[in-house]
Amino acid sequence: MANLEIEVRAEGSGFGAEIGAVDLAAEVPEEAFQAIRAAMIRHKVLVFRDQHLDDDSHLAFAQRFGPLEGHINRATRHDALPKIQIFGNVDQSGNPTGVHPERGTLVWHSDKSYVATPSMFTVLRSPSVARQGGNTLFADMERAYADLDEDRAQALGNLRVVHDWKRSREKSNERPATAEEIAAAPPVEHPLVRTHPETGAKALYLGNHASHIAGMDRAEGEALIAELERHGTQAKYIYCHRWRDNDVLMWDNRCTVHCVTTYDAAKERRIVHRAVVQGDRPF
Ligand SMILES: [Fe+2]
Repeated sequence: MANLEIEVRAEGSGFGAEIGAVDLAAEVPEEAFQAIRAAMIRHKVLVFRDQHLDDDSHLAFAQRFGPLEGHINRATRHDALPKIQIFGNVDQSGNPTGVHPERGTLVWHSDKSYVATPSMFTVLRSPSVARQGGNTLFADMERAYADLDEDRAQALGNLRVVHDWKRSREKSNERPATAEEIAAAPPVEHPLVRTHPETGAKALYLGNHASHIAGMDRAEGEALIAELERHGTQAKYIYCHRWRDNDVLMWDNRCTVHCVTTYDAAKERRIVHRAVVQGDRPF
């Protein structure tokens, strides 16, 4: 009989856990899958070591969590599998380009917060891992919120934030958004304090796609966003994932922000393949 137990190894705060005794390339039994999903909600970031997924099995695993979404940036889409996005610094001959793909990944963000129904879970694997740098950092925005004093937390709960793909790209010095992208992703408003639809926990909902505060002086709103991001990304809230070959990494975008640390894009080869599970409208 198949062993339906999974191993969950979490440390300290419980933010982030390593999951063992599971082969994601095989069909994960339903009971084990439900245990993984429960661990996802509890620990917010999950790491699976020594996995051997290809794009098809990557998609098959990710879509068990819900419908997958594409991306408005066509340049990163897999040619044959549009629900897989590829970010890499390697040219067609396999040589490093010297250019970080999508500089917006280097700054704190929550995936797709610039759309009305942003990403729930992101599932990532890395066919080529940088040996130095290229770590993925996560910040626990629920703990960051919980540590605010009560009056401040209450006041912030009344604010709404404008998230904007175009502005986000300006802030991260990426190529400007195209007219087609701007039409596909006009600015949207989300609450600054987001309630997790499955646990009821509240989190700061910010990141690089956050442009300004609705109804507040622009500069004042930008300063408030920057201040809350500094608060939320202090070392005590961070989990650092150092990639090994054959890792699969997934996270809950509803209560975390993440970014990639720099690496030598002229020497290292770093490639990630991503599948994203669509979420609900934040409230
Ligand atoms: Fe991301």
